[in-house]
Amino acid sequence: MKTDVLLGLQWGDEGKGKIVDVLSPNYDIIARFQGGPNAGHTLIFNNQKFVLHLIPSGIFRENTLNVIGAGVVLDPVIFMEEVEQIEKTGRNISKNLLIAEKTNLILPTHRILDAANETELGKAKIGSTGKGIGPAYADKTSRNALRTGDITLPDFKEKYNTLKQKHLKRLKTFDFNFDISDYEQKWFESIEKLKRFKFMNGSEFFNKALAEGKKILAEGAQGTLLDINAGTYPFVTSSTVTSAGVCTGLGIAPNKIGEVFGIVKAYTTRVGSGPFPTELFDEDGKKLQEFGHEYGATTGRKRRCGWLDLTALKYAVQINGVTALILTKADILSEFNTFKVAEYYELNGKKIDYFPYEITDDLKPVYKSFKGWKSDISHCKTKDDFPKELKEYIKYIEKETGIPVKIISTGADRDDTVIV
Ligand code: GDP
Ligand code: IMO
Ligand code: MG
Repeated sequence: MKTDVLLGLQWGDEGKGKIVDVLSPNYDIIARFQGGPNAGHTLIFNNQKFVLHLIPSGIFRENTLNVIGAGVVLDPVIFMEEVEQIEKTGRNISKNLLIAEKTNLILPTHRILDAANETELGKAKIGSTGKGIGPAYADKTSRNALRTGDITLPDFKEKYNTLKQKHLKRLKTFDFNFDISDYEQKWFESIEKLKRFKFMNGSEFFNKALAEGKKILAEGAQGTLLDINAGTYPFVTSSTVTSAGVCTGLGIAPNKIGEVFGIVKAYTTRVGSGPFPTELFDEDGKKLQEFGHEYGATTGRKRRCGWLDLTALKYAVQINGVTALILTKADILSEFNTFKVAEYYELNGKKIDYFPYEITDDLKPVYKSFKGWKSDISHCKTKDDFPKELKEYIKYIEKETGIPVKIISTGADRDDTVIV
């Protein structure tokens, strides 16, 4: 068997959580391979809404095992809050939630370092989610990190203090006041609670599962344009968001990757700082924000909105090896008489048909206009039910990317999904 992948092709919030929840009955295992509590994945079903930050989106399906892979950075406080929120609904999830022992821990001081870095950057700040992601991954690559497998070691507290001291020393170089005592207390309480979960060797687990014919879906967090290598650096997150990250994050080989589902919103959003060529500052932008309820699921910040950027999409399709596209929030475009797609860019009169190294305000998107359908699509159960203008929009995306659109999401609820 091979591992299928579902990941975001824009700047995150494409609707990954919703679609993973929809697809999870087809899989034995859903696994997060990167990122951490910076993610906010929304699931809506039976008039209930859940926002998951660390727990994979297959958690509400009884027969699906959910795994946090080694490429993830885990904050025990946020993790346990999430566990408790789900268990309040009467589920006991210790049995269908496993954690790889190589998963790195986010310390209270990582959160402080994140905030101090951002404050020091001032206007140039990344606009991070403030969850300590950057500093936690920095400790991983500089070989200082603590991993979940360490929590049962007799010298865990000592290891923690050594790392904390390093952080405190670094924090002295900032003009930044902080107090971690409350969070630190909760952190150690959560570490104790974490011990009821099973920790395992991720690579061994996933390869054995594949050999036994188990079906695995890797659930991406963030989006390709936030990837540490491929994204709009430095306005990115600190992990490998792309399909390559599935190999390192779960511990499986490239030839074990199967279908790559690339998920794309019918328009574009971005939270935090950084370039966004198709961003709108007009009434259309306001309408997308308002009708799309575009507020960050983790931070509550307003998401910046703009039209679909085809050049960026083609780039994301290419570097991920996308084999099937998933289009979400098509229903939001139902509000528009006309809408647009940026086909390519122009820089000083010259056509740019690739995603460039530097994105400045001089890079101008060149748009194609589409006629809207101006009708409610929430009742559509098959692609045949779609208005002709939506069918044309889908056909256009397929032709331009060379990839079939296999799922269309027509609303936030689990049931508002058309599978082709
Ligand atoms: P994720 O981070 O990729 O999982 O996406 P988020 O959950 O952060 O943001 C997507 C938002 O859009 C959530 O509020 C979802 O409930 C909602 N959503 C997902 N798909 C659709 C859709 O097709 N139509 C509408 N109207 N909302 C959707
Ligand atoms: P999901 O999985 C949207 C953005 C932040 C910031 C940058 C770096 O819900 O799609 P970080 O905290 O990672 O250091 O922030 O990345 N960002 C996201 N934007 N969706 C996300 O996750 C994001 N995770 C991080 O806003 O610009
Ligand atoms: Mg999100």
